[in-house]
Amino acid sequence: MSVRSFISIADLQSAELAALLERAAAMKRDRRSAGTPLRGRSLAQIFEKPSLRTRLSFDMAMVELGGHSSYLSPQEVGLGRRESVADVARVVSRLVDVVVLRTHAHETIEEFARSSSIPVINGLSDLSHPCQGLADIFTIRERKGDLRKVTAAYVGDGNNVAHSLMLCAAKTGLTLRIASPAGFEPLARYRELAQQAARESGARIEIGNDPAAAVRDADVVYTDVWTSMGQEQEYERRRRAFQGFQLNAALLAKAKPDAVVMHDLPAHRGEEITDEVLDGPRSVVFDQAENKMHVLKALLCWLLAAPAAGGQVA
Ligand code: NVA
Repeated sequence: MSVRSFISIADLQSAELAALLERAAAMKRDRRSAGTPLRGRSLAQIFEKPSLRTRLSFDMAMVELGGHSSYLSPQEVGLGRRESVADVARVVSRLVDVVVLRTHAHETIEEFARSSSIPVINGLSDLSHPCQGLADIFTIRERKGDLRKVTAAYVGDGNNVAHSLMLCAAKTGLTLRIASPAGFEPLARYRELAQQAARESGARIEIGNDPAAAVRDADVVYTDVWTSMGQEQEYERRRRAFQGFQLNAALLAKAKPDAVVMHDLPAHRGEEITDEVLDGPRSVVFDQAENKMHVLKALLCWLLAAPAAGGQVA
């Protein structure tokens, strides 16, 4: 039996992504009456890095849909150190129905998936954060409607979050302008994947180095930390390189007056974003955080082929 995993947004057809977003909207609307489609199903979360939103969203998605979730910390598992990645995958596949991995190296998730007989979900790697991408594109659609008419600006590091957002944009027809300091742009292989998908959807993905140009008249302004988990030793170099890329009131003033502000959190307040903007009236960061649970419910039901509100994902 072949199983579908969710390791990158690139794993989804555009129609599947659209159907997942529909289903997530139904999940949010019917939160208290969705029943227990995941009754008797179980999830394991194996994390090498800290997590608040992703971990708790998966826990609550399982709880609210009637399933069960177990968390395994790095000390307990020691992926590839205490035990080979393949052996962990084979054991976990015998015990639960679906697994979420958060790893330092993206290849660890790919290696795990090769030996897994259950769906594997990428809960963040150094290269991508597709669960965040789902929450982000869902939030943009919820706030701004038809994605083909929306322009979003992402200002900051061309990192895991930017890669997944870029692929979501490319598959949904969103216009996305990314401004990163030279040398910190999204990686070429993600840019190529995005441009390929954009040709089919009509999306426009523009990558440059000028925050003001990216934000001008945008409907959405997004930023993420300059130093991601695992890059702590680069902190000073990055802090210097990203001067001029802070999302503050002056930069936000260049966007449309009704533009919303997004951040995947945790924020490094006073670095990539000011308190004034993060806590301001245009910030939707806590909707974005909540929405992760709704999209993950839709994702879990899809991967586990469970009946759920919002119909089947094709
Ligand atoms: N780019 C950040 C995202 C955290 C959710 C990191 O990898 O640390």
